[in-house]
Amino acid sequence: MKVRFLGHSAVALEDRGTRFLFDPFITDNPAAPVKPSDLPADYIFLSHAHFDHIGDTADIAKRCDATVISTFEVTNLLADQGVKTHAMNLGGTFRFPFGKVRCTIAFHSAGVAGGSACGWVINTGSKSFYHTGDTALTAEFSVLAQVESIDLVCLPIGGNFTMDASDAVVAADLIKAKTVVPIHYDTWPPIAADVSTFKREVESRTQSKVVILRSGEEYEF
Ligand code: NI
Ligand code: MN
Repeated sequence: MKVRFLGHSAVALEDRGTRFLFDPFITDNPAAPVKPSDLPADYIFLSHAHFDHIGDTADIAKRCDATVISTFEVTNLLADQGVKTHAMNLGGTFRFPFGKVRCTIAFHSAGVAGGSACGWVINTGSKSFYHTGDTALTAEFSVLAQVESIDLVCLPIGGNFTMDASDAVVAADLIKAKTVVPIHYDTWPPIAADVSTFKREVESRTQSKVVILRSGEEYEF
């Protein structure tokens, strides 16, 4: 499985020819390394409807005929724009042709009335990937660790809107992934973070290793 960081919270994932995007906020993303028209997608996972996550989802999904997977209220927004969708909700699991998906609890707001923010665990049988979405540090992580063994997790560390880097160290300890990739930091001044201290703390206080990806960089795991 191969992950590519696209800046902020946007991540591309590829597993045996299936292309996934998470929170493809590209056009107005100061850290984006590509144009939205450069991104292929078979499935797009959306954690919530804030602008820095929903971003270019509708345009990319329509161009690629991709399916957008999100919580019910968010998929309704996109279905109204002619996008192919699959609605899930918190705690739900579903088996897609590429593997099993779990919609995880995220402690955040949805950006749409009545909705919930979420995260995603994708388990293709070869590897398990977790994008937490925007979330606070929450005890839900320890429950999740009882039902999923995660190979790589993308964790927000920027603070202000999500957990900060020191809370994210505790999150890493609870999630117990083999590898942690920090996201959602340094895009704008309110979410500045000291990523090298985060790496040092996680690697000294937990079993996980941290891989810091610059925008555009790929990592195979
Ligand atoms: Ni948000
Ligand atoms: Mn955000």
